[in-house]
Amino acid sequence: MKKILFSCLLAMGSVSLHAGITGVANVPDSVYLFSYADANGQSGLKFAWSGDRQYWTPVAGGYNYVRSDFGPWGSGKKMFRPRLVQGKADGKWHCTWEATQSGQVVAHAASSDLLKWERQSYFVPAERAQHVPAETFPVAEAKATIGGREESGYVQRVPYALIEEMQRYADHKNFRGMLYDERTEQDAVRFAGLKPVEATITVQTDQKKAISEHLIGIFFEDINYGADGGLYAELVQNRDFEYSEKDKAHQRWDHSYAWTVQGGDAAASLAIATDDPIHANNAHYAVLDVKQAGASLQNSGYDGIALKQGEKYDLSLFARVAQGSKGGKFVVRLLDEKGNEAARTTVNVSSKDWKQLKGVLKVTADVRAGVLSLEPLSAGTYHLDMVSLFPQNTFKGRKNGLRADLAQTLADLKPRFVRFPGGCVAHGDGVDNIYDWKGSIGPLEARKPLRNLWGYHQTRGLGYFEYFQFCEDIGAEPVPVLAAGVPCQNSGTCSHHSKGELGCSGQQGGVPMEEMDAYVQDVLDLIEYANGDAKKTEWGRKRAEAGHPKPFGLKYIGIGNEDLITDVFEERFTMIYNAVRAKYPDITVIGTVGPFYEGTDYDEGWKLASKLDIPMVDEHYYVAPGWLIHNQDYYDRYDRSKSKVYLGEYAAHLPGRPNNIETALAEALYLTGVERNADVVTMTSYAPLLAKEGHTQWNPDLIYFNNTEVKPTVGYYTQQMYGQNAGDEYITSTVQLNNWQDGVKKRVGVSVVKDNATGDYIVKLVNMLPVEVNSKVKLDGVTLTAPTAVKTVLTGDPKDKTARPVTSDFELTGSDFAYSMPAYSFTVIRIHQNLEKK
Ligand code: AHR
Repeated sequence: MKKILFSCLLAMGSVSLHAGITGVANVPDSVYLFSYADANGQSGLKFAWSGDRQYWTPVAGGYNYVRSDFGPWGSGKKMFRPRLVQGKADGKWHCTWEATQSGQVVAHAASSDLLKWERQSYFVPAERAQHVPAETFPVAEAKATIGGREESGYVQRVPYALIEEMQRYADHKNFRGMLYDERTEQDAVRFAGLKPVEATITVQTDQKKAISEHLIGIFFEDINYGADGGLYAELVQNRDFEYSEKDKAHQRWDHSYAWTVQGGDAAASLAIATDDPIHANNAHYAVLDVKQAGASLQNSGYDGIALKQGEKYDLSLFARVAQGSKGGKFVVRLLDEKGNEAARTTVNVSSKDWKQLKGVLKVTADVRAGVLSLEPLSAGTYHLDMVSLFPQNTFKGRKNGLRADLAQTLADLKPRFVRFPGGCVAHGDGVDNIYDWKGSIGPLEARKPLRNLWGYHQTRGLGYFEYFQFCEDIGAEPVPVLAAGVPCQNSGTCSHHSKGELGCSGQQGGVPMEEMDAYVQDVLDLIEYANGDAKKTEWGRKRAEAGHPKPFGLKYIGIGNEDLITDVFEERFTMIYNAVRAKYPDITVIGTVGPFYEGTDYDEGWKLASKLDIPMVDEHYYVAPGWLIHNQDYYDRYDRSKSKVYLGEYAAHLPGRPNNIETALAEALYLTGVERNADVVTMTSYAPLLAKEGHTQWNPDLIYFNNTEVKPTVGYYTQQMYGQNAGDEYITSTVQLNNWQDGVKKRVGVSVVKDNATGDYIVKLVNMLPVEVNSKVKLDGVTLTAPTAVKTVLTGDPKDKTARPVTSDFELTGSDFAYSMPAYSFTVIRIHQNLEKK
């Protein structure tokens, strides 16, 4: 009886709550709506309403309904003096605002309901008429006193129902925010008294579908010293003397950064010159003026140079003797932290023209943070450039190769594809910082160094050729990403065609139209570089010259990276997309749908994808673990007839940004839903991948490292357990728990796949509950032939950052078996059938 009463009260409560929003009779038909923004530009578009134009109530407590997206990240995006008007012709709300304090950049966006806003556009005031429907201006400014402060804005008469809608919308967003804030640190309260859960998992082997074989891959971006000082095995920092203040590095960088002269000013000096360089792309070189023998030029590497006893290192440098100087021998040494010699060789610098000199240094002791020392034995003036030191032991022994331990750690993920070179690095900080792939190939001394928008310098020794080669070396599909003719929407560096403030921030109007044909050609040339005939095509020939006559077999190309979807973007993207489709119909173009799982860019990106019939789009979202827990059905709703999805960047973010069991399990849990939808989600990649300790711009990352150690995170093992246990067929399973609570159910995830190449069944089980889940797994209708099984379990305290998966034999009792999932765990049970024994 009590129970019934309680349910009735609950039901009544929800009715009256609802009625409070929609059904109260005594509300006005219409009210005044005042739109405004804070004078400092930070608030975005806010509203207040009033029945009498005297007393104003902020709508949803001052909720921000539109943010300006013009300008650099964060507080760089501002909205000043928004003007909101309802268009007479289209009935839409049109908001124009000034995106900079000076008013040099004007922005516009439209909405039919004031809740969902269409794409934004940015322009100079003189171009207003081209962007804003004529009947929406001019309108008169009004004043309103809100919370005791007088505000300037615009007043409309609107149905009161609209205010209710706006309130409901904000409430819903706020409610979801609270839901997604679910964290394991609240579990003691959330799951107080929870007993171990019983589960029956029925695998319906007659209900299956083909899924993508490329589901798990990696996304490599040169962020956090991922390339130079990281994966790229070069040990000399600033080898080309091209570091400069233009790199906008956090440290004070100049052309001699990381280089020092030892022996005192009287003995030698270092200067930088640019006349007659080795190559125009590499304009600066060192001038070492030696007055007394014994002085040396030293390079401190990236946090020192780490060396391994018994290993050989390749030295290379370009050198010449200045006019009037005699030249002579250089002793080249590798020294440890105390100055002890760990290896030596000599080179002879005698040519008046640039000449490449080479040597090999065999190291006699382990060194953690050594230096490279170049010591001329005779006084004179020497020009030096491209001073390079590589371990011979690179990944697969490649020259100009990758750091073996780091590359192997990536290979161990068994990634089916590699996306590169970014991320933001691909579209760059401003039009002039777009990653031009052509500048990253060819002889090292002719490559174009590029400022890295993460605050350092890219030598681009790890360039497109090396990326393709790495993909081939690990059996992964290459997925290059090129800018869609627009730079990062968060840009803050003026472009060469800067039209005042408009050309100095955000998308900057994109690559100028008169340069777009050349830009499109560059994209086509990349496909030719990867796949073109080595003898018959210009770019195929260049690939062959680099040592790879066979095509790389490129199948995918990404155009754009989580861009702001504007008219500027659409125009340029469409040009590139149509050109690629016309010339290379077999290449799968991957479009982009913004940096979030919803919102304007997501909606506009998907609209464009459907309009152009783009085969695949790249989605990105960095979210709270709670979002992943509550959105496991995110892709269940996706229309199978539309574009496929590449989830190109995602990660669970907790406050403080750790990578721990909680984030790793949330990702594992979410991936069970992704695997279920791997008929529409073709590829996924966690981001970012690599981070060098002490040089990290972004956390969490998948793998941390320093010069001597590689430190995979807990999240790495989630990726690895998926990567090493991929399937090509998804088998539906139902999960019945003895606990009906939604909060409990959402913490248990199951995915079963079959790998038809081996005949293996793979059962993935995630338990994010603080108690065990005792499960009975029933592989319905399957007769297993002489099966053996192994289980891999990743488990630990949610805060644990050091847990590692443990693999052991799993005793199968038949096609029905029991398994108890430990609290906070991810288990993979791989069932192998010994078909010969049949
Ligand atoms: O992964 C780090 C950055 O996140 C990427 O460069 C960018 O695409 C995203 O904003």
